[in-house]
Formats: sequence, structure tokens, C-alpha cells
Amino acid sequence: MELRERRIGIEALAVQLPRSYLDLGVLARANGTDPAKYYFGLGGRRMAIPSADEDSVVLAVRAAGVLLADRAADVSSIGMVLVGTESGVDAAKPIASYVHRMAGLPSDCRVLDVQHACYGGTGALRLAAAWVLGGARPGRKALVIATDVARYDVGSPGEPTQGAAAVAMLVGEEPRVLELLPYPEAVHAAEVMDFWRPTYRSTALADGHYSMQCYLDALESCWRRFAGATGLGAGAFDYLLYHTPFPKMALKAHRRLCELSPDGPPAGGADADWERRVLPTLWANMEVGNAYSASLFVSLAGLLEHSEIDAAGARLGLFSYGSGSCAEFLAGRVGPDASAWRNRTGLRDALAGRRELTYEAYLRSRRSYEEQGRDGSFRAAAGGAGPAFCGTWNHQRIYRDAAWRSGTGWTSGEERTAEEASPFRAGHASRGAQAGS
Ligand code: CAA
Repeated sequence: MELRERRIGIEALAVQLPRSYLDLGVLARANGTDPAKYYFGLGGRRMAIPSADEDSVVLAVRAAGVLLADRAADVSSIGMVLVGTESGVDAAKPIASYVHRMAGLPSDCRVLDVQHACYGGTGALRLAAAWVLGGARPGRKALVIATDVARYDVGSPGEPTQGAAAVAMLVGEEPRVLELLPYPEAVHAAEVMDFWRPTYRSTALADGHYSMQCYLDALESCWRRFAGATGLGAGAFDYLLYHTPFPKMALKAHRRLCELSPDGPPAGGADADWERRVLPTLWANMEVGNAYSASLFVSLAGLLEHSEIDAAGARLGLFSYGSGSCAEFLAGRVGPDASAWRNRTGLRDALAGRRELTYEAYLRSRRSYEEQGRDGSFRAAAGGAGPAFCGTWNHQRIYRDAAWRSGTGWTSGEERTAEEASPFRAGHASRGAQAGS
């Protein structure tokens, strides 16, 4: 098969997480459930819980900040911002607009969100790669951010599969992190009601067991297309990364893939093979929970940040599934200097800086998040540095900007006082929702 000569993919990658987490054992005990169900039946350990001042915008802006602070790209080289998300904060205005302003990106930039449940991040990555290869803006790169907050109703079956994260990726022709290999596309779409979030709800609804079936059907369809078009089997990959709503789902997916692989079952069986080729990609997902569109890229960051694996040159098979549904199986190759990303993606710092919530604090944080989405809820952000969601005023979401100084990261020095940040201050109304900017 003739493959294209120009390389394309992820040049740099940064991860941001909420500052808090809930241990699944704490949740299980509060729900009167055997903790073994969550730890072993679903395979999770902890789930990231956003505070009231952390939403999908704030996580995305923070991830962009870490990426740009790494000097992976000159800000002026970015010609497009695509945000893959199913946690939009407005039915019209994209998260990409907030990112564009708060990260100080140039005005000759295309900015939009891409939505298809958990597939949005992969869809955005594919569109960005095609745009760069299309050559309409020679030399320009795309900033792709997958950002999501997974929330289900308290006490519902989905509750132990919550989580949140943002992964920012620079897409260009020097794919030092992951080159997207130019095999024929292996995609699958089918309209199903397996998981959805009506616009009048802040939490998702799922037909849980049916959603797993839809996921596996989509995997089967994508994999048959990929294997049929390329002649490759599962053995062609060093690691397999699956969309991970909860880690056990990746085991179910791997079993299905191995059953269907033209090169037959792996030596020792699918479960032993899962431990070798899938488990090393899941340790971060076990800490974060479901990050929807960011989940697959949390797995990628986890592999790069694995303390005992140098993934340089590794061939990856990646399966992305978005409920509703759209899915894709794609292949990539990790760059030759993979070890350079260890302790550099922001993932380990974010995990190390987290604090554990009690069950009561978890319930409080959910209530205050709901409060802050209501009009009139604005209050000046508490301490700390960086962007923060301050609430809603005059039907506008209000963010505390942080001053961005190239190369030094977010600083607190130029944040505004509470009075200056107030939406009541003179001139605010004419400037729109830019408290603190
Ligand atoms: N000790 C050990 N294991 C136990 C246990 C115990 N005491 N009790 C139960 N288990 C095991 C069960 O045997 C089961 O394992 P298997 O699937 O291997 O049999 C596992 O724990 C889960 O048990 P249940 O199936 O009884 O769990 P549930 O019905 O309460 O909920 C769920 C599971 C349906 C996935 C639910 O968490 C849910 O609705 N989640 C949201 C939807 C979702 O994540 N779907 C995934 C596919 S769709 C997708 O991928 C998109 C997306 O991101 C949402």
C-alpha cells in the first residue's frame, strides 16, 4: 500500500485535571455498594471531581497554557483552535472562543468546537490533521483540545464512572509525540440512544448495558474495516488504546478485538495480552475516571508518562467511541524521543497536586457547581493562580483571566482584586463577560 510522504500528527501534548478527586471506595461505602464492584468490577480507583470554579473551559485553558509554556509552538503559528467536547457551557458560543482569548492567540485564527460525545476529541484531531495537510495556511499549526467533565446523577449506575480532564495537542507536520499513520479511515456511524445529555440537564443519561453493546458493535465494525483495508492484525501493534469510560471496558474491547483479529488469538490468551499491551496505557485513566472526549488522550499521556516504559517508536492502535454514535480505529507511531515527555505533559504534576474529597465535600462541590451555573451567582474567585470560573451574571459566564507571560506560565501577580473583577465595575457591561481580564 502506498502511504503518503508528508507526516502529520501530534507535536506536543499537555494534560490538566481538576484539583480534587474522590476515591471510589469512599463512594461505594456511601452508596452501600461493595467497593470491589467499583475497584475490580469496573476497574477504577479514583475519579477527578471539578471544584465549582473549574469547568470544561477552565480545564481547556489550563491545558493550552501548559502546552504553550512548554514553548512547543510559537503562539503566532497557531491558525486554528478545535475543541472536542460534550461539556459545552453554551448552546451557541464555543469553548474554543474562550481558549482563543485567554491563551492570547492571533485573531487570524479559525475557532470552533467539535461535538460527538466522546468521539469529539478524535474527530477534532482528524479534522485538524486534514487542515494542516490541506496547506491552506502554510506553516500554521492547529491547537486541538479535548476537554470534558463527566457527571451522572448522584446514586445512579453511572456515578462511579465520572471524571474530568483536558488534553491539549499541537497538530502539525513534526509529530514528535504521535504520528498518525496514513491507513484508510476505519470509521463507523449509527444513530443509537445509548448515552445522551438533553440541553436542559447538567448530567448525562445512559442506557448503560446497551451502551456497552453499542461500543462493542462499533469496535467490531471499525476493526473489520481497518483489518480488511490494511491486512493487519492486532499483532501489528505494540500497544492498544481504547476509549475508557471505565477500565474494565477496555478489557471487554480487547477481548472482542482479539476474537476478530485475522492473525488469531494472542499467545497466552486475550486477558494476558491485555495486561501486556493495554494495561500500561490505563493507569492514568484509573486515577481520572471517564474524561469523555479526552479519555483516549489521557491513555496516550499515561503511556508516555509510564515510569517503566519507553514507548519510542511504538506502533499504537487507537479506538475512539462516541455514543450516539460515531467511532474510529486509527493507527499511530510514537515519536523517537518519547522519553522526553516523561514528567513533561503536566499529568504527573496534576495528579500529585490533587486533594482527596470526603463524600460530603463531593456532594457540596456538585451543589456549588450547579449554583454557579445560575444567573446572578457571580462571586470573585478564591485564591490560587490561573483561570477560574466565577459564576454567571447578566446571563454571561464570567471567568477570571490570568496574565499570560510567554514562557513563565500562568501568574497570579496580575489578577484583579475582587472589586476590580466585579461585574458591577464601570465599563464591564460594554466589555461583556471579561471580569478580571
Ligand atoms: N465484586 C467484584 N465485581 C463485581 C461486584 C463485586 N462485589 N459486583 C458486581 N461486579 C462486577 C459485575 O460482574 C460487572 O462485571 P462484568 O461486566 O465483567 O460482568 C461489573 O462489576 C459491573 O457490574 P454491573 O454491570 O452490575 O454494573 P451496573 O449495572 O451498576 O453499571 C454500567 C455498570 C452500566 C457501566 C454503569 O456504570 C453505567 O451506566 N455507566 C455509564 C455508561 C457507560 O460508561 N457506558 C460505557 C459504554 S458507552 C461509552 O463508552 C461512552 C461513554 O464514555 C459514556
